[in-house]
Amino acid sequence: MNPDLDALKPYPFEKLAALKAGVTPPEGLTPIPLTIGEPRLAPFAAALEALTAHRQDFARYPATAGTAELRAAIAGWAMRRFALAGLDAETQVLPVNGTREAIFAFVQAALDRTRPAKVAMPNPFYQIYEGATLLAGGEPLYLDATAESGFRPDLDRVPAETWRDVQLVFLCSPANPTGAVTPLAEFEKLIALADEHDFLIASDECYSELYLDEAAPPPGLLEACARLGRHDYRRCLVFHSLSKRSNLPGLRSGFVAGDAELIAPFRRYRTYHGCAMSLPVQQASITAWNDEAHVRANREAYRETFAAVTEVLSPVMDFPAPEASFYLWPAVPGGDDEAFTRALHAETNVSVLPGSYMGRVGSSGTNPGSGRLRLALVAEVEATVEAAWRIRRFIERNPRC
Ligand SMILES: Cc1ncc(COP(=O)(O)O)c(C=O)c1O
Repeated sequence: MNPDLDALKPYPFEKLAALKAGVTPPEGLTPIPLTIGEPRLAPFAAALEALTAHRQDFARYPATAGTAELRAAIAGWAMRRFALAGLDAETQVLPVNGTREAIFAFVQAALDRTRPAKVAMPNPFYQIYEGATLLAGGEPLYLDATAESGFRPDLDRVPAETWRDVQLVFLCSPANPTGAVTPLAEFEKLIALADEHDFLIASDECYSELYLDEAAPPPGLLEACARLGRHDYRRCLVFHSLSKRSNLPGLRSGFVAGDAELIAPFRRYRTYHGCAMSLPVQQASITAWNDEAHVRANREAYRETFAAVTEVLSPVMDFPAPEASFYLWPAVPGGDDEAFTRALHAETNVSVLPGSYMGRVGSSGTNPGSGRLRLALVAEVEATVEAAWRIRRFIERNPRC
């Protein structure tokens, strides 16, 4: 087998299972997992109806490029959402089976192995960026996102000679796990760096629709391009998904959009890779991209959960005021995220993810996830608030944990 597989790091949930092994939480307390970023709100019903209505189309092979109707629905959504002057459904949009597979596949298609291939990524980060890089023969470059840098990678800390070897930069906005949103000015700065040092930008925006202030939707990379008059989106690709937006993580539907010069070879790669989206899933996706009411209702639900949890936890934990996504990124009072996670599970049957499991020792010489937790606020509001109370009482009983 490919020896590069041995370079893959254990996934955070594998490490969590090992950490909790042998711990028996008290009987009588229902388990409440705040670990997995899987929406629990109801999936968008009209999309499921479209899927069922078109089930006979499972009898046909789909094309890698998707149908013109789906690409038009995606282009229309992206243009409305990010105030784009244009997005050509034929050449600048490609449906994908969720952002995870698209992120992985794009790195395989993008890296030039004949020269140094650093791939810069925020740290802490969604683990696929790193695994995809390692399997494509690249070298991860971890850009620490700390409290000092507003939980976003500090681009100014990267020396010019390092940028020289960078072929691809990942951004994640709104970010998993920190919830931080990249402002337009920072996208613009990265675009200028990409031109100067000749690298590509992959902006993972799969949480873009889960924001807390209805009047302030997070900006995106294509929006930054449009404001610069860069209507060909040169060097830029965005990754979007219905998983969080429409509570359809099992549908496996998303898209990439941006530079036609990147989309064309990526489509060619995907033709060989064999990952076309089935036609009923395409129909469900068209229905979902064309509706905003269900997405507004989702935001309303997350807003309620965030407000309730913030009220319970803010007296005992420090965390950045969440702007978007469904994660909270608190510091643990005693500073040891693993010890806290284990003891919390043992005493309260609440599962959380140690922040260090999502980070690496990076540009600042430490793991910026250490001493923090990722709390996924995805369960029903009652269960999530109950978990928050258990955490609060645990901290009150163990203030140094
Ligand atoms: C930052 C980030 N990117 C991508 C994904 C993948 O989402 P999907 O493949 O369902 O679109 C996730 C899933 O949790 C994520 O957190």
